[in-house]
Amino acid sequence: MKIAVVGVGYVGLSTAVCIATKYSTVAIDVNEARVLNLRAGKVPIHERGLKGLLTSGLESKKLGFSSSLASLASCDAVFITVGTPSAADGSIELSQIRNASTGIGAAIRDSTKKPVVFLKSTVVPGTARSVVRPLVEKYSGMNCGNGFGLCSNPEFLREGSAIKDTLAPDRVVLGPFDDLSLRLARTFYEGFYGRNGPEVLVTTPEGAELVKYGSNALLATKVSLINLIAKVSEKFPGTDVQDVARGIGLDHRLGLHFLQAGPGFGGSCFPKDVRAFRKSTTDFGLDSSILESVLKINEEQPQHVVELAEKATSLQGREIAVLGLAFKPDTDDIRESRSFPLIWRLLERGGKVRVYDPVAMPAAKTVLKSRVVYSTSAQDCIKGADLAIAMTAWRQIKSLTPADYLKQMRSPVLVDARRMYDPDEYGRKLRYVAVGLGSEDRRP
Ligand code: UGA
Repeated sequence: MKIAVVGVGYVGLSTAVCIATKYSTVAIDVNEARVLNLRAGKVPIHERGLKGLLTSGLESKKLGFSSSLASLASCDAVFITVGTPSAADGSIELSQIRNASTGIGAAIRDSTKKPVVFLKSTVVPGTARSVVRPLVEKYSGMNCGNGFGLCSNPEFLREGSAIKDTLAPDRVVLGPFDDLSLRLARTFYEGFYGRNGPEVLVTTPEGAELVKYGSNALLATKVSLINLIAKVSEKFPGTDVQDVARGIGLDHRLGLHFLQAGPGFGGSCFPKDVRAFRKSTTDFGLDSSILESVLKINEEQPQHVVELAEKATSLQGREIAVLGLAFKPDTDDIRESRSFPLIWRLLERGGKVRVYDPVAMPAAKTVLKSRVVYSTSAQDCIKGADLAIAMTAWRQIKSLTPADYLKQMRSPVLVDARRMYDPDEYGRKLRYVAVGLGSEDRRP
């Protein structure tokens, strides 16, 4: 089988290097500089395992990169993995989907292979039917189901564990438009995962698109609900949201995952997808208030962290260390990271901010510019600070001990926004404030 992946962002690149472990794969992107770098084995993102698979794919010649769609004519399957960013009204912006569909249609016009187009990009229900199918039909001059196949096939990989998630997903979701695409999808995934692979769920194209939005909306709802529960926990001295979350999560119907209270969810997916899903439900004339609440709680969370800090110390003129800028550990992605709204508020309050992140500093510099001081290590960041706010649970930040904070800081006040430290140990030794922890000064 020969496979093409159109759009080499996070999802496309991770998908392409994984598919190339099995099938001959060409990954295509309009960004020529990116294509040249990838051909030279240079990885544009921080993602565990990516570099190794890229190198082995290039060496075995099973993986290639191109900025032209011409090779699609000889492919059996084409995965669309282009971006679907937020538009101003919260809906998704479909220009990349339109361009990809148009280009794919034109490129397969003379194909005799009956290629199957898989739509992996996250789109609101109905997009494959109303946007992708008509464009591919128009520009290929063929009908879906005859000259080519089309199948919604959402992606569930997480940044930071993209390779692992692609090689061993919880499930594969297929929303085929035609028998041709269902047959090829089964052959492709069985060939890739073997007979004991993940469960394959087959539904309508809209059902598949809805699985993706439903999953992200439910995960984001869990996070916002636990953040609300965290605020209630803070009202009662000694009450800890970590205990409450465990008590909730031990119910097998609810599960322990995604009940980690913190400064809110970020990244390129949850905020964008919940906004788009809200817009789409509203467009259907449905009540989307549950999604509005999820977003509202999330928006308020950085301000809540600032208020926790202000209860412990004043901010005006203080040296404040913000530890962690990536939206979560193991990635250099700062999109919608909660650290940024936090930093803007700290600066508005007259704080002097210094920042540290093990990998996201270059990206952060393009946003924060000269408004903050850039530290070279976690230790360097807290040196002489009056307040430290731990925002991303990187190993380098988690490993700071109470002794480090006591030794390095001018006045050791620590706000644990991500619940990465043991409150008993840290609370006994320094002024320790945490999201979801009812305040109780534990120092002797
Ligand atoms: C998310 C989903 O988990 C993937 O399944 C999905 O494929 C992806 O979006 C996507 O739509 O492409 P990702 O954005 O990489 O993946 O990150 P997550 O690990 O889900 O975390 C999202 C945010 O929620 C992070 O800021 C994280 O810190 C926060 N979070 C997560 C919490 O605050 N508490 C939790 O308990 C879990």
